[in-house]
Amino acid sequence: MTEVTNKRKGKQNLAIGEVQSWEKSEIGISGKTSEANFSITLYEVHTIRIQVSKDDDFSPNPYSVIGSPKKLDFTVVENDKFISLETSKIHVQINLSPFGLTFLSPDGMVLNQDDPAFAVSWLGTEVSNYKKVQKKERFIGLGEKTGNLDRAGRAYTNWNTDYFAYGVNDDPLYMSIPFYIGLHNNLAYGIFFDNSHKTVFNFGASNNRFVYYSAEDGDLDYYFFHDSTVSGIISAYTTLTGRMEMPPLWSLGFQQCRYSYYPDSEVMTLANTFREKNMPADVIYLDIHHMEKYKVFTFDGEKFPNPKAMVSSLKEKGFKVVVIMDPGIKSDQDYLPYAEGREKGLFVEYPDGEIYEGQVWPGWCAFPDFTKTETRAWWAEKMAFYQEIGVDGYWTDMNEPASWGQFTPNLLNFHYEGEEVSHRKARNIYGLQMARAAMEGSLLHNPEERPFVLSRSGFSGIQRFAAAWTGDNVASEEHMMAGIRLVNSLGLSGVSFAGYDVGGFCGESSKSLFARWMSIATFAPLYRAHSMINSNDAEPWSFGEEVEEISRNYMKLRYRLLPTLYSGFYKSTVDGLPIARSLAIDFPHDPLVYETAYQNQYIFCDKFLIAPVESTKEIAKVYLPEGEWYYLFNDQKYSGNQVIYVDTPLNYLPVFVKAGSVLALQSDVSHTGEKHDGILRLHFYNSKGKAQYLHYEDDGHSMAYKNGGFFKREIEWTSTGEMLHFRKSEGQFASAFHSIKLLFHGLDIKKIKFAGELITTKKENMAFLDKLSEFDPLPDQLHPYFDIEEIQSVTIDHLAEAFSIELQ
Ligand code: NOJ
Repeated sequence: MTEVTNKRKGKQNLAIGEVQSWEKSEIGISGKTSEANFSITLYEVHTIRIQVSKDDDFSPNPYSVIGSPKKLDFTVVENDKFISLETSKIHVQINLSPFGLTFLSPDGMVLNQDDPAFAVSWLGTEVSNYKKVQKKERFIGLGEKTGNLDRAGRAYTNWNTDYFAYGVNDDPLYMSIPFYIGLHNNLAYGIFFDNSHKTVFNFGASNNRFVYYSAEDGDLDYYFFHDSTVSGIISAYTTLTGRMEMPPLWSLGFQQCRYSYYPDSEVMTLANTFREKNMPADVIYLDIHHMEKYKVFTFDGEKFPNPKAMVSSLKEKGFKVVVIMDPGIKSDQDYLPYAEGREKGLFVEYPDGEIYEGQVWPGWCAFPDFTKTETRAWWAEKMAFYQEIGVDGYWTDMNEPASWGQFTPNLLNFHYEGEEVSHRKARNIYGLQMARAAMEGSLLHNPEERPFVLSRSGFSGIQRFAAAWTGDNVASEEHMMAGIRLVNSLGLSGVSFAGYDVGGFCGESSKSLFARWMSIATFAPLYRAHSMINSNDAEPWSFGEEVEEISRNYMKLRYRLLPTLYSGFYKSTVDGLPIARSLAIDFPHDPLVYETAYQNQYIFCDKFLIAPVESTKEIAKVYLPEGEWYYLFNDQKYSGNQVIYVDTPLNYLPVFVKAGSVLALQSDVSHTGEKHDGILRLHFYNSKGKAQYLHYEDDGHSMAYKNGGFFKREIEWTSTGEMLHFRKSEGQFASAFHSIKLLFHGLDIKKIKFAGELITTKKENMAFLDKLSEFDPLPDQLHPYFDIEEIQSVTIDHLAEAFSIELQ
């Protein structure tokens, strides 16, 4: 550095300079450049952390990462140009003069490389990491971000924002997840920039030299992941930031929300209507009108004179109740939570100690500082109020935090686990910590029940505390499609349990739009309808008989699919991979996956290919990626790597089943608490390769599954298709199914032998209709519109022991 440059510090770009010293430790390398300190630390062989700071100490984010550095095998190679730190999965080359990193695969392929001149640089307090763009590089992920699946050419800001009726290309929205995956030359890597300040990710927007990410302040602190697969990278990211735990089974059912259902009689009518109309549903939400003057931890005495009695009669009908909790505490000395929070010093303050007030629903409010342990504990304790009433789940809304005008002053102080930081560093963390307080509150009062929290705001790691929904969307076709991409992108970024407001929160849905949205969301992890104040009724029966019928069909399908869905959720808790899986996960280097026409397609529960289509389209162009695919409604088999055209009358969403899948279905129920008939229907879809299914059950609500209270079994189909192996079950939970019924798709079985005995040779004589008739995919019995030559069924008593079935 020359003196002239030094004088300009903060005004023009200051690059990190050359390495002056370095040393190896048991967990990596650390050193100094002419301008900064750096540290390269091993977390896993596939996960390496890079920290750079101009300060003597690093200032890490204490909230997102649950992994820690590990003593792993690595070597350091050194020459006069660079040092190379090498694990079995990643080689990090540190160029000495100037400092710059190149990440390589062990076979020497460049995964990612700093811009040679700028690498890590500062503009005042703003720190950036500039990266060379690799040939045809694509970028996916970054959580709740609008736009295309491939983010190349766009830039995004992470600054949690309450954005009513956002546009389908607007940014930023409510939740920030600064993690993306880069793809090029058949290679993949991931980068998680763990800095909670406002950050910008520029994937080649307005320049043709580099991509970069920068933060307003703080360290350059990022984790680099490499694996040969995208799923391996997501798994690595969720090993670091955590995974969701098993949610209560009821939260996988249909959820009905409105801003707001009141008074109590309206809530009861709503519940009764679901049952009368034979439309399965599990959850009713109470939005802000349940409160007295929008004060959290209250019920409006006039609208809800006896909330406990109401909740109890809802429970009798098989409904769970989720209440909204907003962070804003009305500034009113006569309101206990305000008086207490003030007294105990739990609210966000100005630097001079005065309590900050902003306006939200209750008027002027104080804001609990959720970055303080005491505040979270206090909030959790206050939730005894809901517990006493019998509330089952919590909806943390407005936790960006939102306030009218949206310009929260930056000078505000936050505790941040003792670091004492400003709003600039704490904002993006606020929602995450409020969701955490809600989860801890639920557990505090009900330690044996699994919590359910739905959060609007969050940051990396939110999946440990809450499910997410995509905020105030709009009743439009383009929003329906954009919501799918948002949920798929959240899934790429560790948040498996996510959904959107079915029907659109703002505006009025048309009949056809609502019907289509209900069908698509059948295949969303979170299945919730919601609409805003002063809009038309938007329940599944509010759009006339046809829409009611379509909605009922899909809602019933969702419930029949619960064994598959629940097993899919279980898998996600184990591997961190999403339930709604963008095609970019399994086919990352297939260019068609990124085309506008196909970028919304996704794999659901590893088995279904969903091709969402607008309700205005009568024909859909569907891309079938590599593999073989059965059309759900008539078993027609297609080979992959082709584009097909599918008729899409309103009641038929293009859904395909991957050859080799095993779908597990149960009988119809009106809610998840209702007993099914005890027969597990297993639908086998013939494939050339071997097929596998991991079936998972537990009691659906308690923590017993953590101590062996589960039923788990592998079902495997040999690659020749002749033997079905049911492995011995694991766990101490007795399966809720007493029989298994096998249904075969795409193969003609003459004989089925179980324990050496011929147990059936069944062939019914039913006509094949080559048109779609009534809606009944996956019927229990063979059905006229399935080719009877190709689907046969057999029922056997359910056994927990291992057994095999021979197919001939
Ligand atoms: C904003 C939320 O996004 C919306 O879902 C809710 O209905 C309103 N707040 C009122 O609570």
